[in-house]
Amino acid sequence: MKAIQIVELSGPDTALALVDIPEPEAAGIVVDVHAAGVSFPEVLQTRGEYQLKPPLPFVPGSEVGGIVRRAPAGAPVQAGDRVAAFCMLGGWAETAVAPEHFVFKLPDELDFAQGAALILNYHTAYFSLVTRGQLAEGETVLVHGAAGGVGTATLQVAKGLGARTIAVVSSDDKEDMARQAGADDVVRSDGPWKDQAKELSGGGVDMVVDPVGGDRFTDSLRALGEGGRLVVVGFTGGSIPEVKVNRLLLNNISVVGAGWGAFVLKKPDLIRAHGAEIDKLIGKGFVRPPIGQRFPLEEAAEALKVIDTRAALGKVVLDVRP
Ligand SMILES: NC(=O)c1ccc[n+]([C@@H]2O[C@H](COP(=O)([O-])OP(=O)(O)OC[C@H]3O[C@@H](n4cnc5c(N)ncnc54)[C@H](OP(=O)(O)O)[C@@H]3O)[C@@H](O)[C@H]2O)c1
Repeated sequence: MKAIQIVELSGPDTALALVDIPEPEAAGIVVDVHAAGVSFPEVLQTRGEYQLKPPLPFVPGSEVGGIVRRAPAGAPVQAGDRVAAFCMLGGWAETAVAPEHFVFKLPDELDFAQGAALILNYHTAYFSLVTRGQLAEGETVLVHGAAGGVGTATLQVAKGLGARTIAVVSSDDKEDMARQAGADDVVRSDGPWKDQAKELSGGGVDMVVDPVGGDRFTDSLRALGEGGRLVVVGFTGGSIPEVKVNRLLLNNISVVGAGWGAFVLKKPDLIRAHGAEIDKLIGKGFVRPPIGQRFPLEEAAEALKVIDTRAALGKVVLDVRP
């Protein structure tokens, strides 16, 4: 089969090779891949900077949209089903294998590219907002990096759960994307966003979902109202912020970590339960993963560079069987 491998740890420009290799033989559900998702961790993997460090060479790609070729008896999907699947590695290939609990029937409303955009970002969004952030209907959520993959997913899930959303973005294109994804208000990361957020929310937001970190962290704490929660999701801004805990005491606020993969990995029932909740939001029309940029499999390096240069809008996807 045709696949992309990471063959050296030299960054997006030079780390990848298009190869012809045997199909994977691991146990699980075998999926003929039509589209594969591209995410921040794959950029880090090309530099050897991600926590998961398989021996070289390896096929990256954590999630795919495709058609089941083979499934064990009793599996929730069968040959011929359209699915979204989370395979952790191996997705940038014509055929991939995923564990049963990470394969979901793809609702008719979504195409293969949207299937490849569904699991990592939307499960993270649901986990961050609900499991970790304890979102209640009617609360106001401020979302950093709101035009990116996690950001757009968080906006859509939050809207679907009855929250009001404020998006923080850095450009006009990203403002358009955030509005398309359901932001009620959009503020600019290089403007007085903290004061705007306080004003828009009548004194302080209930939750900040933060995949960016860096130097905006302290202002995120200041943007919270009483009982507010800052949910830490990632550090695209580069630096890992530190918390002066007197701020938490003085303002009665919390900082909550949300590491989706580590939390759910050994909890298949929880993964299924979150999948069912996301299906409901797809059915109600709230969840429609926006695909910003798409490339043929052969151009995977270009796809990585979109993310690496802060240019991603919604999800970046590779077309594997166009
Ligand atoms: N905790 C978890 O379980 C979990 C799960 C999935 C992903 N993540 C993490 O979440 C983060 C976001 O992933 P994503 O897929 O949403 O990425 P993405 O689509 O590239 O979006 C990231 C956003 O971060 C903002 N940003 C601010 N400073 C940046 C910089 N120096 N370089 C790049 N982006 C910058 C950008 O928005 P503006 O330009 O508008 O500021 C960008 O849109 C990553 O760190 C990823 O590893 C965590």
